[in-house]
Amino acid sequence: MNMIHDLSPDELLTTTRAVRRRMDFDRPIADEVVRECLAVAQQAPTATNQQNWRFMIVTDADQRLAIADIYRQGWEEYRRIPTATLIRTHDDAGRAAVQRRVRDSAQYLVDNMHRVPAMVIPCVVGRADDMAAWEKTTQWSTMMFATWSLMLAARARGIGSVYTCVHLVREEEAAGVLGIPYSRVMHVGLIPLAYTIGDRFWPAHREPLEDIVHWNRW
Ligand SMILES: Cc1cc2nc3c(=O)[nH]c(=O)nc-3n(C[C@H](O)[C@H](O)[C@H](O)COP(=O)(O)O)c2cc1C
Repeated sequence: MNMIHDLSPDELLTTTRAVRRRMDFDRPIADEVVRECLAVAQQAPTATNQQNWRFMIVTDADQRLAIADIYRQGWEEYRRIPTATLIRTHDDAGRAAVQRRVRDSAQYLVDNMHRVPAMVIPCVVGRADDMAAWEKTTQWSTMMFATWSLMLAARARGIGSVYTCVHLVREEEAAGVLGIPYSRVMHVGLIPLAYTIGDRFWPAHREPLEDIVHWNRW
């Protein structure tokens, strides 16, 4: 097992970043290592302990190419949405610069998605399309805890990841490629995995806590 041993829990939690440009596309990831990360993810909580999670792992080169193509199409559609957060411009110069950096980095991933050695598509059994907001929340949350655990377990093993969602614009098409029964099973993201180039990452800039936390009353 290839672990980064000197990471404390807080360091792991604060340095698991969205990795795109620092992915080593040429270094394979053993299936066994992906399994270890999935076993960690499986310890996450699920709503009413339903454990209705499923993980689709895509390593086959043709399948990766097909999913990367759908990802690109999803990205192109996303870019055309006027309110898309990455496309909308910021008045604040600092935030606009960060936004440009993230957009360029996201574009890099679009251009290289087919090269990642493994993709994880977390799925939930049960579609949320017609559910009330609260019930949708339970479906999504069920996968998000597990997905973040998977990303942390990957980072602890020197593997970078980034949570992505733009392929969901074309979820049904992706389901067709992967044989996922779309009418019963919902994708909730697409996580590319690759060993990172170097293993040092740093906490990101965040707003002061005082601006986002409310105690006892809003
Ligand atoms: C709900 C959600 C959706 C996201 N969708 C995408 C995506 O489709 N493509 C992408 O490249 N990054 C995506 N990201 C990654 C964010 O852009 C990234 O987390 C953000 O830039 C902050 O970087 P950090 O995670 O290193 O703090 C998504 C993140 C979240 C939480």
